[in-house]
Amino acid sequence: MICEDLVAERIGIDFYGEMIRYFGNDDPTSRRLIEEILAQEEGHAEDLEALIVTLDAGPPGTHARDANRTDGSEAYPREGVT
Ligand SMILES: [Fe+2]
Repeated sequence: MICEDLVAERIGIDFYGEMIRYFGNDDPTSRRLIEEILAQEEGHAEDLEALIVTLDAGPPGTHARDANRTDGSEAYPREGVT
């Protein structure tokens, strides 16, 4: 779920970037508004990336890809971790 959220954030970042290029210097007010939103979205993506890294380093069964598993097992057990 977190990985999918990160993908959605990155899609939004790409979209806002396109909007900024579209507005260019023709509509600086709209461009600045979208730049502010883009900065927020980049922050969200950074937060999600940090969360994924944190969960990757966590104990077995806490990886983001295992969030929906109810038996505590890992979908892809990590080497050397028991
Ligand atoms: Fe966001």
